[in-house]
Amino acid sequence: MKLSEMMTNTTSRRSFIARASLASLAIPAAGGILAACGGTDASIRDRPLTNNAAAAATQATTQTATMAATATVEAPPLKLYDPALPPVGSETTKQITLTTKDVTISIADGVAMKAWTFNGTVPGPTPRVRVGDTIDFTLKNEGSTEHSIDFHAAQIDWKTAYKSIAPGESISFTFSPKYAGAFMYHCGTPPMLHHISSGMFGALIVDPKEPLPPAKEFVLVQNEYYVTDGTPDMAKMLAVTPDYVTFNGYAFQYKENPIKVKLGDLVRFYVVNAGPTLTSAFHVVGEQFDTVYLGAPPDNAIHGVQTFNVAPGGGMIFEIEADVVGSFPVVTHTFAFTEKGAVALLQVDQ
Ligand code: CU
Ligand code: CU
Repeated sequence: MKLSEMMTNTTSRRSFIARASLASLAIPAAGGILAACGGTDASIRDRPLTNNAAAAATQATTQTATMAATATVEAPPLKLYDPALPPVGSETTKQITLTTKDVTISIADGVAMKAWTFNGTVPGPTPRVRVGDTIDFTLKNEGSTEHSIDFHAAQIDWKTAYKSIAPGESISFTFSPKYAGAFMYHCGTPPMLHHISSGMFGALIVDPKEPLPPAKEFVLVQNEYYVTDGTPDMAKMLAVTPDYVTFNGYAFQYKENPIKVKLGDLVRFYVVNAGPTLTSAFHVVGEQFDTVYLGAPPDNAIHGVQTFNVAPGGGMIFEIEADVVGSFPVVTHTFAFTEKGAVALLQVDQ
């Protein structure tokens, strides 16, 4: 079955509502982008992939022209991404607005990158909702090029909801998550490799209707950065030679600022691997996962796990009973990449 047929069959079964704002219906710039990689409806259906790597690289160069025009890139001070998750709100309609912004961020100690972001941070904010909630979503594009949104928590007519919008435009739609879990969201404008590597990703946490047992809860979004002179580097992305691999957007940030819990706590990590390309072999040195929820918690739980792969574009929930005092490195067990920044410390105190 062709991708287009799958999409048609899939979307026709969906009961979720997608409504585009009037502003988003005028998409001259998005049309231009599509033209750059084929220009027909086929290119929309096959949107995740441009025709070939060279075409994608050319497209990325065009989109980043405004980035390259600005000269010096100074590293701003680290803004710690707070990994602690607040509890889900009780309202059944959740308003979520994401605004795309061009921001220079720090990705490692003294290393700056001109990023494309959701709401100015990498990763973007981590909204928390519940299965069956109505998500009333708006994307505003305040960036310098076309962007879009793609929620892995949704089942939706993606050709409408996830289409690219030009700077100054916005798009709104609603959806209702069917499954609980830790879900990626990202910009889906081609080349996606470039938009995700430039910072356009985040996590959306969906709680089950019956809450999981009380725990100390944290979100960890793994990603790779490919950067040259402060600018995302498409050639490195295609060659998969990352400069940094991080949790929550900054190399080693929780090595310097450990994640602290108390002896006896149940610790729950919501792990999303934003990639764009590498697998996260999620592991905690000196501990074991008492439970890993592969999907749709509380179902699909496995126990006594040492390491578990989180695919690029995937998300899982990992639980540890903190029954030993100490400092435990939280890593991707893909060691060619671990030392590039994907190390956090879980500190268990008395
Ligand atoms: Cu984008
Ligand atoms: Cu995706």
